[in-house]
Amino acid sequence: MSVLNDRMVQYASMTDSYLEHVFAEAEPSVKQTADAMRYSSMIGGKRIRPVLTLEFCRICGGDPETALPFAAALEMIHTSSLIHDDLPCMDNDDFRRGKPSCHKQFGENYALLAGDALMAEAFLTASRAALVPERVSACLQSLAYRTGIHGMLGGQTLDEENETLPAMTAERLFETDLLKTGALIQCGCEMGCLAAGASAEQAAAAAEFGKALGLAFQITDDILDVTGNPELLGKATGSDAAAGKATYVTLLGLEGAQEQAAAYTQQALSALDAFEDTGFLREFTSMLLERDH
Ligand code: IPE
Ligand code: IPE
Ligand code: MG
Ligand code: MG
Ligand code: MG
Repeated sequence: MSVLNDRMVQYASMTDSYLEHVFAEAEPSVKQTADAMRYSSMIGGKRIRPVLTLEFCRICGGDPETALPFAAALEMIHTSSLIHDDLPCMDNDDFRRGKPSCHKQFGENYALLAGDALMAEAFLTASRAALVPERVSACLQSLAYRTGIHGMLGGQTLDEENETLPAMTAERLFETDLLKTGALIQCGCEMGCLAAGASAEQAAAAAEFGKALGLAFQITDDILDVTGNPELLGKATGSDAAAGKATYVTLLGLEGAQEQAAAYTQQALSALDAFEDTGFLREFTSMLLERDH
């Protein structure tokens, strides 16, 4: 338990310090957008994607410090996705990470701009990593592919379209979750490997792990939207029902969703067999299934 906690705290604080250093360089003449970027990035967040990048880098023989620009970049993209996800035209949520959502605090105009600016800042940050160009370019490619229409933004698109479908299928939900949440989690895992100079086979094995973990993670998020405590979660519950969203909970019931999340967690644990020194990742994966926030 304590190795799990200590390393999680260590990776989260490395990421926080790095993000602070990035935001310290923001241009003062664009104060509103810069303030909104920092606000949404620094008010909380479990930093699970950076943890994955830093740990995969370590188990592939790299120094986690060298993967920090990629970990921080991924967290910026994730934060950008949350800012936009909360907008009235998307999920219309007023709370995020225990505080008013970005658009509630700064207005929709600046929330839109802060989300966009975080995306650009993420690529700038990743491009400055002090590694050989081949590794930087491989990570940038993963970041772009997993963020855009082939990844998270493609999934968010399916999520929007799903609200207009006459009937949802489990297959369609799988495809949606795999992209909207799975893609950035896969990215975190594969960038860790690529930063360490691991083989393409190892990066692919890490992405397989991330795929299963991402599905388990989103199903758990959907379960917590029904059963969770908003104080602990830092965001409102009942958001999916209010928006009439189909989730694994609406398709399979609570128990069915819990079984699916457990099955994907098992799948993720098996995918770790391709690596050595996976004690932390195994505990981390199991903890994410049991989480209450
Ligand atoms: C929330 O992600 C959005 C989903 C993809 C389910 P997290 O649960 O990782 O949110 P933070 O970063 O801790 O706020
Ligand atoms: C979030 O899914 C997916 C992304 C932001 C890409 P949700 O809409 O379920 O996330 P929460 O519940 O608002 O955090
Ligand atoms: Mg959403
Ligand atoms: Mg949402
Ligand atoms: Mg949710």
